[in-house]
Amino acid sequence: MKLRISRRVSAIQPSATLAIAGLARELKAKGLPVLSFSAGEPDFPSPEGAVKAARDAMDRGETRYTANSGIPELKRAIAAYYKTRFGLEYAPSEIIVSCGAKQSLYQALQTLADMDEEVLIPNPAWVSYVEQIRLADAKDVIIDTSATGFAPTREGMEGAMSKKTAGMIINSPNNPTGVVYDRDTLEMLADIARRNDLWIIYDEIYERLVYGEAKHYNILQIAPDLRDRVIIVNGVSKAYSMTGWRIGYALGPKEAVAKMDDIQSHLNSNPSSIAQWASVGAIEQSESYVESNRREFERRRDILMELLSGVGGLRIERPDGAFYAFLDVRNTFEPDDNEFCRRILEEKFVALVPGDAFLAPGYVRMSYACSEADIREGAERIKDFLRG
Ligand SMILES: Cc1ncc(COP(=O)(O)O)c(C=O)c1O
Repeated sequence: MKLRISRRVSAIQPSATLAIAGLARELKAKGLPVLSFSAGEPDFPSPEGAVKAARDAMDRGETRYTANSGIPELKRAIAAYYKTRFGLEYAPSEIIVSCGAKQSLYQALQTLADMDEEVLIPNPAWVSYVEQIRLADAKDVIIDTSATGFAPTREGMEGAMSKKTAGMIINSPNNPTGVVYDRDTLEMLADIARRNDLWIIYDEIYERLVYGEAKHYNILQIAPDLRDRVIIVNGVSKAYSMTGWRIGYALGPKEAVAKMDDIQSHLNSNPSSIAQWASVGAIEQSESYVESNRREFERRRDILMELLSGVGGLRIERPDGAFYAFLDVRNTFEPDDNEFCRRILEEKFVALVPGDAFLAPGYVRMSYACSEADIREGAERIKDFLRG
């Protein structure tokens, strides 16, 4: 008899980003000169403060279960960070630490979204939102922003609403577009949430990676009255180059955070004790590290823009944040993004992620979280490919 898989998980698609990164690794292992621009992780070593804090924690024997929602020292560090950076006050009972922002988002959606309720997502959007909404038996409602510079508009958001709309997921700086929402956009989104009694999950995992004149705001700096309906999601993966440590966190109203904690208590109890201590070291001791990495990403972005703008029909909006460029391939000789990525990997050994994975066919995402030499060589190969 064939094993029956539940309806809930049958429709889940694996993460396309990880799949491409896996394929690129496989080709590389075979000795092929693969350049991967697919993964969403910085290439810097984790900060010394984090590594030392982890070593010290091991030496002290911090090797047992911790409090479900995270060690008090890390919650204090997160609270102090939010106070300094955004002027926001959060008590320890309003903070939960999880295994990556991904888990924080999952628990937030399980806590806020009810069966058949609708969740608005400006599109293009990070791959996991849709799958996580579906895992909560809720419904994703996708709002195309490609005609307005990848920023949502009031008409777009309101036009997608129904009686079942419960909330929205907002991600700025955005993966995959690199767009940073300006004050007006955030005010508009806050206004819609306020008038329609919606919750907001505000994913600001790339908040430290913003370039040039662009400025990142936490939505509660702009609409402090929404504090009771916003769950902020952040983590150490991107700002501190700590993807492998798996620490993310959420800040929100006590009742919601308590429920997220209940889920976590049955799921994985707590994130790794050592990784939590490492995150204390990162958050408390790495300001200059974060700033120097930010400057380096900005430099790489500028190099990439200079090398690829206007090449072979490619169109690229200059990204203001995160570490991705979102290339419009619709006017190139290979306008199908899946085909584009398959062919350029096979023919030029360049790994890019199809926009399809971000609900945005006709685009491909290129991460510039890699060395300048790789960016230069990759740009040459892309140019070569586009010659057809
Ligand atoms: C928009 C966005 N949110 C959340 C995450 C999750 O990060 P992590 O689980 O590593 O903390 C990512 C990672 O790629 C992301 O791009």
